[in-house]
Amino acid sequence: MSLANSPIKLNDGTTIPWLGFGTGTALYAKDAEKMVTAAIQSGLTHLDGAQIYGNEDSLGAGIIASGRPRSELFVTTKLKKLPEGVSVRDSVVESLQKLKTNYIDLLLIHVPTNFPGRLKETWKELEALKAEGLTRSIGVSNFGISTLKEIMEGSTIVPAVNQVEFHAHVYEEFRPLLEFAKEHNIVIESFGGLSPLFRVKNSPVVPVVEKIAKSKAKVAGKPVTTSQILLLWLKQKGIVAITTSTKVERVEEYLAVDGVPELTAEEIAEIDAAGAKEHHRHFTSFYNYNPAE
Ligand SMILES: NC(=O)c1ccc[n+]([C@@H]2O[C@H](COP(=O)([O-])OP(=O)(O)OC[C@H]3O[C@@H](n4cnc5c(N)ncnc54)[C@H](OP(=O)(O)O)[C@@H]3O)[C@@H](O)[C@H]2O)c1
Repeated sequence: MSLANSPIKLNDGTTIPWLGFGTGTALYAKDAEKMVTAAIQSGLTHLDGAQIYGNEDSLGAGIIASGRPRSELFVTTKLKKLPEGVSVRDSVVESLQKLKTNYIDLLLIHVPTNFPGRLKETWKELEALKAEGLTRSIGVSNFGISTLKEIMEGSTIVPAVNQVEFHAHVYEEFRPLLEFAKEHNIVIESFGGLSPLFRVKNSPVVPVVEKIAKSKAKVAGKPVTTSQILLLWLKQKGIVAITTSTKVERVEEYLAVDGVPELTAEEIAEIDAAGAKEHHRHFTSFYNYNPAE
């Protein structure tokens, strides 16, 4: 089994492949079929979609075109803000039709602020969908500690995951949330994990990961890239990595993280320290919550 597909245990007894291919950001509102097919044929099995990306149809088409059996894949989708009169169940049934599957592996509430005054009720509806078998696992995204506590209080299921922006430039800010998640056995999934490479001008993390990539290349006897080092940094912190690309070569680069020697504790600390020099959270215009509260 490749490192990308190594199973990470969830609190409901299922597992999730460590590296996921997303159909948001670079593929947002675009036809994702070709890249999804290419990602699966290259060896990725974990696909991360969302209703709001407007391309669940092409995610489903990409899955079918890949020829890989559904049972070997792990498919996530995320619940958007619902139009008046549409129930959570109706909306998920529509997603299943678009995805061309009869179950979702992981259903997430995309953003807590989309459900003002009815977050707990919405979580209960997700619990019911899990009981019905429409989704195997349920979780959340962009939740801080207070919204996690809100849905957990009096509910029967603890979210299996919380998908949040996570990279070295937000590590300090997110530490209390990571600790809370660990206490409650909630897996953290990252998006924006490669941000230091292209979303942060003159990121102090870049020279550090370049140096580490060079030294790992010598040991591995093969080229090692900065994105592979950042992916390993996530892996070794126990974080599921959701990334994406518009290029097949990049997907192959992500997969080639296999065989790159593990980071040492010193190397991880060096990346942490470089990230802490500059706080940069990219997605705040969409989700401006305090993760520690
Ligand atoms: N839950 C949420 O609210 C939420 C929010 C955002 C994202 N997501 C999910 O997470 C997925 C990934 O998010 P993300 O795009 O932020 O992930 P990311 O891993 O931070 O960035 C992926 C992008 O990195 C670029 N890249 C990789 N290596 C690079 C390098 N060496 N130099 C410059 N650019 C490089 C790729 O560009 P190329 O296309 O050129 O290869 C790719 O588009 C999304 O598609 C979505 O599924 C979820």
